[in-house]
Amino acid sequence: MVSVIMATEEKQAGYGGRYAQGFQLYVKLSQEHKAILQCLDYVLTGEEFERIGAGKSHLHVLGVGSGAGEIDTHVLSVLHSSFPDVPIAVDVVEPSTELTEQFKALLATMPQLQKMPFAWHTMSCAEYQKKVQDDGETKQFDLIHMVQMLYYVDDYAGTIKFFHSLLKKDGKLLIVHEGANTGWDILWKTYRKELCSKTISDYLSAGDIKVHLKSLGLQYVERIIPNTLDITDCFVQGSEAGELLLDFMTEQDHFHRSLTPELRAGILDLLRNKCSTVKDGRVLFDCSLSCIVISACSVCL
Ligand SMILES: C[S@@+](CC[C@H](N)C(=O)[O-])C[C@H]1O[C@@H](n2cnc3c(N)ncnc32)[C@H](O)[C@@H]1O
Repeated sequence: MVSVIMATEEKQAGYGGRYAQGFQLYVKLSQEHKAILQCLDYVLTGEEFERIGAGKSHLHVLGVGSGAGEIDTHVLSVLHSSFPDVPIAVDVVEPSTELTEQFKALLATMPQLQKMPFAWHTMSCAEYQKKVQDDGETKQFDLIHMVQMLYYVDDYAGTIKFFHSLLKKDGKLLIVHEGANTGWDILWKTYRKELCSKTISDYLSAGDIKVHLKSLGLQYVERIIPNTLDITDCFVQGSEAGELLLDFMTEQDHFHRSLTPELRAGILDLLRNKCSTVKDGRVLFDCSLSCIVISACSVCL
């Protein structure tokens, strides 16, 4: 019985099926990866990261919630170009087998990354934390990144504290997360009770993460990544693309089948009137992000 429950829990962690499709549609329409990569190119080649590889005999990178690896492979390519003589080893914590397979397929197309050894941890970050603590592992990292994944942890402060403790001297913990007062923040906080009932147990935006960072005494630098998503299709009756987007945005399995008419009407009204701007007849949802770079510092370790 215990093993049946564990198997079910493991199956539920991470993206798969229709939800993964919704995410991929969201990424395509919002051009979110392009926006994130532009910001990361600036951050990774700036002063903040100069010391990460300087004088190092090797670098160790950990990706948490890496999905299909589009961001990870780009980050690794930038690091490799910046420090061509420094070998880079990579660990990935990603519970979705579906997305991990896509990550591996993407890697196979990138000859410049072939020499990097990868350790795959197909598990949630809570399971990874438990494994590291139970096994007394001492692996430490120069760069740990969590791009758009913290929503799925129950204890934000504990998770950040744990991963921060895995940083080497001069290491960085990089978090990309939905920004304060964006469409996401307004939607998920207005309907917290109704929406935070599945894999997201509570919704926190980057603004709330910064409050945690301050109380943990961690030093950070923040950059805003402005972005919008055209959600006009969400208001077109019978639009399959609109339904898939709504499913992803509200974490539902078929928005129109799962929620009551009153709730749907309230959410659609909020999306149009409080979370978006209308331009040339198109409804543009504010999906801006924050990129938060947290330093390892002896004072706060
Ligand atoms: C919004 S996607 C972001 C994926 C990727 N970082 C990107 O930006 O394209 C969230 C990712 O977190 C993963 N995830 C979900 N729950 C998780 C958990 N508890 N621990 C680690 N990763 C998780 C999902 O499988 C998914 O790949």
